[in-house]
Amino acid sequence: MKIPYVNIKKQYFIERRNLLSVIDKTLSSGNWVGGSEIDKFEESISKICKTKYCVSLNSGTDALTLGLHLLGVRKGDEVITPPNSFVASTAVIVHLGAKPVFVDVNKDQNINVELIEKKITKKTKAIMPVHLTGRMCEMDKINKISKKYNIPIIEDSAQSIMSSFKNKMSGSWGKIGCFSTHPLKNLNASGDGGFLTTNDKKIYEIIKNLRSHGMEDDRNNVKNFGYVSRMDNLQAAILNYRLKNLKKIIKSRRINVQNYIENLNFNHVKIPLETKDQFNTYHTFVIQVNQRDELKKYLEKNGIGTAIHYPVPIHLQKCSKLLGYKKGDFPETEKQSKRILSLPINQFLRKQEIIYISNLINKFYKTR
Ligand SMILES: Cc1ncc(COP(=O)(O)O)c(C=O)c1O
Repeated sequence: MKIPYVNIKKQYFIERRNLLSVIDKTLSSGNWVGGSEIDKFEESISKICKTKYCVSLNSGTDALTLGLHLLGVRKGDEVITPPNSFVASTAVIVHLGAKPVFVDVNKDQNINVELIEKKITKKTKAIMPVHLTGRMCEMDKINKISKKYNIPIIEDSAQSIMSSFKNKMSGSWGKIGCFSTHPLKNLNASGDGGFLTTNDKKIYEIIKNLRSHGMEDDRNNVKNFGYVSRMDNLQAAILNYRLKNLKKIIKSRRINVQNYIENLNFNHVKIPLETKDQFNTYHTFVIQVNQRDELKKYLEKNGIGTAIHYPVPIHLQKCSKLLGYKKGDFPETEKQSKRILSLPINQFLRKQEIIYISNLINKFYKTR
């Protein structure tokens, strides 16, 4: 049996007929930059995330950059964030001339809230929790810290569309929520894309202006020196089409997790279970195991694709050299980077395939 880690081709073949008609309709409209699909997408996202505003953008990275910029993050400032995210979460801080101040994580891979206060200084301009794997951080506690020190929260919600904590949606806890619609995300465009959510009208209006060269109404009046960060109307049309299936996709992923839970032997495999406060959407399904690299190879030999998110923590990457961190600074992150393995979890998997993967994993450890 061959089971790829992701199956974007299959997604396309299933959607093909409907999607081609959506693409044709959008291109025929002649509105390629800006247009009604953009407005429709932003309205739908505001409803889903339960925020007043949404601004569609061309990536999650740009959402984070513009969001931090609007929170006033400038040269010499500090932003608190975990070191086990996708590198973009940290890169955006560095590009603004600020310092990423890393805080280690819990067993569930999310920022350890107990360690945040110790890292706050006069220079701290924002707290950026990352809802890794589609599991939300302990936002009630982070919110308390944010209020106590008057430091805004910018959520890296890139992996967590429709996740919630204590029944409050991802992207609605902080001053700003930043999402990605990269092809590997649960809600995926057919290329790069992202958006930002907020309840702050001023932030909404300025980012809407900045994303399109700072132009007002037409090309001849420019309010601010801006960027080209807008989402294409075509990607918005594709996302509008896919939004209809998002709930179903998340439901399938959650059923897949249940099937793993029922079939994996937990003497060898650790997974942080969903708590009563969480609704996880499983952008990834990550197990924590000994002999991770051997298991990965064994599964590969048996036709199973897996991934590691992420094998090298950001503070130990070459690009972080100048930040001054060293091995041993974040023990839980470093330990997990050697133990984590993302198993196939996509919505196209069948129950038999999950049983097959689970049995292989159980067999691997039986002989050790
Ligand atoms: C946690 C996290 N932050 C930020 C990003 C950046 O998003 P994008 O790839 O849309 O720029 C991603 C996505 O890849 C991500 O997973």
